[in-house]
Amino acid sequence: MSHASPSLPEELVTALRKAQHIVVLTGAGISAESGIPTFRNAQVGLWAQYSPEDLATPGAFERDPRLVWKWYGWRRSLVEQASPNAGHLALAEIERRVPQLTLVTQNVDGLHQRAGSKHVLELHGNITRVKCSLEHVVIEQWEESGELPPRCPNCGGLLRPDVVWFGEALPERARDEAFSAALFCDLFLSIGTSGLVQPAASLPVVARKRGALVAIINPDEDAEWPADYCVVKGTAGEVLPALVSAAWE
Ligand code: OAD
Repeated sequence: MSHASPSLPEELVTALRKAQHIVVLTGAGISAESGIPTFRNAQVGLWAQYSPEDLATPGAFERDPRLVWKWYGWRRSLVEQASPNAGHLALAEIERRVPQLTLVTQNVDGLHQRAGSKHVLELHGNITRVKCSLEHVVIEQWEESGELPPRCPNCGGLLRPDVVWFGEALPERARDEAFSAALFCDLFLSIGTSGLVQPAASLPVVARKRGALVAIINPDEDAEWPADYCVVKGTAGEVLPALVSAAWE
């Protein structure tokens, strides 16, 4: 994907340079340039016939646990092959340059941590971890008997990815920390998310109400954002490194 270099609002560059506490909310779009498909773009290959909303639910796992396990296995293999992109790296750089940065992600791919970000709150879990579907404890090792999904070595329950599915509660600590950070930040960056899934979608609303500048970084030409948000239409991999340069170089 190649675009002209994005034009950056002066208001955003200044806010970044002066920021005391930034909250960043990321979604699938920040990992698109690492080759991981977003949720609301068409799925590819084998999985094109399914919608993620039909696979990422407790009901889907009850109906067809093997299908759901295999879909996550496919997504996990994409994550393992992927590397952090310029957008992830720029966020780690911003964290090193400002007094406080809280990175809240809806992604389950762990690419922010691999890029060097330190303070990451995972709202939707992490695809590299597995937990027991009955006991909800993380399981590190299990026996591969050929059965899919494999079974919990403690109780025999089916294993599942340690991610949050539609209709499930978010991890409490991450959620509470994200909302209190949104209340007290002076700059809120929303990057690569369609902003359709709650409660994450409320975070920028909370920050804006408390007076923070809210900036959106998203290449979608058709998306509509509130009039008092500062919108930069461009990809994370282009806009974020350009912002770092504009603010500090
Ligand atoms: P979506 O797939 O809904 O949205 C991805 C957003 O990224 C879209 O607005 C795209 O325009 C934008 N985008 C695409 N390429 C981009 C790029 N290179 N740089 C910046 N933005 C780009 O993904 P999410 O908003 O993350 O939840 O979806 C939220 C949640 O819904 C996910 O965490 C997942 C999902 O179903 C669960 O599984 C619970």
